[in-house]
Amino acid sequence: MIGTHKVGVIGATGMVGQRFLTLLDKHPLFTPVVLAASARSAGKPYCEAVGEKWAMSVPIPGYAKDMTVLDAEADAGRIAGMVDFVFCAVNMKKEDIRALEERYAKLEVPVVSNNSAHRATPDVPMVIPEVNAGHLAVIADQRRRLGTKRGFIAVKSNCSLQSYVPLLHPLRAFGIKCAAVTTYQAISGAGKTFATMPQIVDNVIPYIGGEEQKSEEEPLKIWGTLQDGRIVHAEGPVITSQCLRVPVSDGHTAAVFVSFERTPSKEDILSAWKNFSGEPQALNLPSAPKQFIHYFEEDDRPQAKLDRMTENGMAVCAGRLRKDTLFDYKFIGLSHNTLRGAAGGAVLLAELLAAKGYFD
Ligand SMILES: NC(=O)c1ccc[n+]([C@@H]2O[C@H](COP(=O)([O-])OP(=O)(O)OC[C@H]3O[C@@H](n4cnc5c(N)ncnc54)[C@H](OP(=O)(O)O)[C@@H]3O)[C@@H](O)[C@H]2O)c1
Repeated sequence: MIGTHKVGVIGATGMVGQRFLTLLDKHPLFTPVVLAASARSAGKPYCEAVGEKWAMSVPIPGYAKDMTVLDAEADAGRIAGMVDFVFCAVNMKKEDIRALEERYAKLEVPVVSNNSAHRATPDVPMVIPEVNAGHLAVIADQRRRLGTKRGFIAVKSNCSLQSYVPLLHPLRAFGIKCAAVTTYQAISGAGKTFATMPQIVDNVIPYIGGEEQKSEEEPLKIWGTLQDGRIVHAEGPVITSQCLRVPVSDGHTAAVFVSFERTPSKEDILSAWKNFSGEPQALNLPSAPKQFIHYFEEDDRPQAKLDRMTENGMAVCAGRLRKDTLFDYKFIGLSHNTLRGAAGGAVLLAELLAAKGYFD
């Protein structure tokens, strides 16, 4: 039985933080009671602190407008006494984020994080809820290391992965030998809008710092196994990637090429996608898409603008599955980078943690 939980949003004024605020508006399980950001925003009403940076298509939720923003660092002890867990999405140096998240965990506050700082920490689960919910078991080992009873850190993966890992995952039954992926990533993934990133208009930027390494390595942790208190990375499949920034507001597209040990038919792949579901569907979690993978038959789909909001931006879209001349198959994937790929994925992860009693 899932109860209701009081939640804080650390980084509430940022792009991902704003998404959290909209997703938490009237959420059936989570009640936002703390909004925190840097010392620059602390002490101000939220609407003043976020000001012109508000980038959502809906207005600031009524509950948040007049909440006084707290200082995520200086007020940590006070915040810890007010919440059952926090979401964290901050723009700070990696070592500072690592320290901030551990500080909250040691204050016995579970941290559900969008940041990359702890993704490589072996006893921190990095979870796509439909794919590797079993990794949450490592939290017991992490709590032992941190010396905590309640506090822990759980993270979600990088947003680029969500446009192809969920599509490759059900195909692992056919033995994936290797995959080549090019991602076409939206500007909101850099915390930008067309107003704040005018150089992207009529342009493609062929570099996103650190993204290709994350796109190749993070899937191996997600497909890893729990051994001796840590997640040991899978040895394969080898993934090679190129990541491009494109003039799209929201929605990361992936062009994927893949080869198998036992080459499936096209019908095998379509059926594996159609029939795939995970714990969020079994548990009927509030943010879970009913159908996780949506396949589009039309040659010109999925499109970022038309299809990113499929199932409230929480589904993963696929299309153009066909034989390839060099690899076995190629196809297109799409997912909403700030919903499924960021705040929505973290809210779903928190719902899974709540359902499994990790916030009790
Ligand atoms: N955008 C995406 O699609 C996406 C996807 C996945 C993961 N992420 C990750 O999520 C994190 C946030 O990204 P974003 O795009 O939301 O960044 P952003 O728009 O730049 O927002 C950054 C947030 O961090 C806060 N902050 C900065 N310094 C701080 C400090 N010293 N103490 C406390 N808070 C501080 C800012 O508060 P002030 O307003 O007070 O400065 C703001 O709330 C990053 O780690 C990013 O890699 C982003």
